[in-house]
Amino acid sequence: MRVLITAERIQERVGELAQLIGPEYRDRPLTIVGVLTGSVMFLADLVRRLDIPLRIGLIQASSYRGAATTPGALRVGADLLAEVRDRHVLLLDDILDTGQTLKQLVQHLHDQGALSVKVCVLLRKQDRQVHDVRVDFVGFEIPDEFVVGYGLDYNDEYRQLPHVAVLPRES
Ligand code: XMP
Repeated sequence: MRVLITAERIQERVGELAQLIGPEYRDRPLTIVGVLTGSVMFLADLVRRLDIPLRIGLIQASSYRGAATTPGALRVGADLLAEVRDRHVLLLDDILDTGQTLKQLVQHLHDQGALSVKVCVLLRKQDRQVHDVRVDFVGFEIPDEFVVGYGLDYNDEYRQLPHVAVLPRES
């Protein structure tokens, strides 16, 4: 598979993001909420670069399947989410594609009483966003290709790769 972003470049950029994020939340109660499962590598690397007090939460978002539900509707699994009321939340995801997932999760976190919700994604696919969601921190802009590695999967595989690679299209 063709490497799109090397492991070294990812680590360098995660460090830069930490430099931007840290000062924003100094002296504010911060919970970083990672979207399962794709954000786990990014979450683990980013929090270790931040030298501010913080809590970690996890949230799940899965698409409804079956004819009875609205196509594209999302189910938010918040069982693992710690209390975010009266806390500032930084929502962390692997990739922004159409924006549907993050738009709904941002709303959910506001509904739970978060003081503020900002969004950080490792990757943003160019020209794909159709849902209106504000993204505050972006690691890399990437072309519209299906990518795997560093948390991102195809059929739940390849998440463990330390780099981001392009999955070849089936011919
Ligand atoms: P939306 O459209 O809600 O999609 O912004 C975000 C979610 O879609 C998945 N996704 C990908 N997963 N490689 C992946 O492994 C990709 O290129 C890709 N594009 C979208 C991912 O789960 C993300 O959270």
